[in-house]
Amino acid sequence: MATQTFKVAVLPGDGIGPEVMAEAIKVLDAIEKKYDVSFDKTMANVGGAGIDNDGKALPEKTVETCRQSDAILFGSVGGPKWETLPPDEQPERGALLPLRKIFGLFCNLRPAIIFPALTGSSSLKEEVIEGGFNILVVRELTGGIYFSEPKGVETVDGVKRGFDTMMYTEPEIERITRVAFDVARKRGSKVCSIDKANVLSTSVVWREVVERVAKDYPDVELSHMYVDNAAMQLVRWPKQFDVMLCGNMFGDIISDEAAMLTGSLGMLPSASLAEGSFGMYEPSGGSAPDIAGQGIANPIAQILSASMMLRYSFSMGDAADAIDKAVETVLNQGYRTGDIYQGTSDEKKLNTCEMGDAIVAAL
Ligand code: NAI
Ligand code: MG
Repeated sequence: MATQTFKVAVLPGDGIGPEVMAEAIKVLDAIEKKYDVSFDKTMANVGGAGIDNDGKALPEKTVETCRQSDAILFGSVGGPKWETLPPDEQPERGALLPLRKIFGLFCNLRPAIIFPALTGSSSLKEEVIEGGFNILVVRELTGGIYFSEPKGVETVDGVKRGFDTMMYTEPEIERITRVAFDVARKRGSKVCSIDKANVLSTSVVWREVVERVAKDYPDVELSHMYVDNAAMQLVRWPKQFDVMLCGNMFGDIISDEAAMLTGSLGMLPSASLAEGSFGMYEPSGGSAPDIAGQGIANPIAQILSASMMLRYSFSMGDAADAIDKAVETVLNQGYRTGDIYQGTSDEKKLNTCEMGDAIVAAL
């Protein structure tokens, strides 16, 4: 018997979700053999699979399975079959938003990693990204302009207008800032806080709180950057960044920008964390209906999501490092799924299952 057991809710979802999830499970099985740990996995329906089998995108029994787990490993949801449903019942909105709310997932971690073997797939010039880069965007997920009240549409004196409120409280800022500094310690020890303190009051408070929290982390280097400059710096010299700390809206934009610099959506994991150790882990991409059912999807985003789960929810940094290293090894060996295949002579094209097997072998 392993000393430690972690309960994992496995929610494969739709499209390529189940295909890539199968490979992540293989990797977790390999970790069980290598480390003194066991994963108690419970499968549950979500998204279109929830709608088809249990009548809704987030069935009650799926929520219950998640509640009884230490973390959620999520695939992807959605597809043309469910696009005609009312928005709130659709797979993405009907499952992801409620999951964030129910489990208090206030923090989104979105790595943008470009592996040295794949610099050719980036939209940036080779010399800008030579040797690869590894940025982690830490995005506040439950506050800021997307959620603050009042918001609405009204007509005053015959003029229609829309309005939103941007508000951040000190505790909200402090909570996300601590996450950013804690994860920075496990990486490159640099935090760049993104704001617009020259025009926004929320950003003035944001900066004050970040400065204060930083005093507890003398080993982590802090810098501040206006969001417009950050958007520019990301394409100019991405290697200058380690952890980028952002509020909800800036993080939404910056994380998508950073991710696309890597040029390979099938490679990027993400995590949404609650207070404590609970978190939900999923690929950054969607259910890829265009390639679903063909067994050719890239399982690496799902596998790296499992690695993040080990790192951030189970404190198994060594095992997470081993998975990340195994992924790098197979890429260096020239193994590619179709989405990252460039057709050079040192590349070998693999399907989803073969890529999972190669990563397990490298482990
Ligand atoms: P998508 O990420 O599913 O696909 C965009 C492109 O990237 C496609 O060409 C796809 O084949 C490719 N791609 C994505 N992941 C890949 C992988 N692992 N391996 C190889 N290629 C990969 O985004 P799209 O097309 O906008 O949305 C498709 C469906 O996914 C929609 O129903 C959407 O609502 C849903 N979606 C779900 C998300 C989630 O579950 N968190 C996030 C984003 C979209
Ligand atoms: Mg977005």
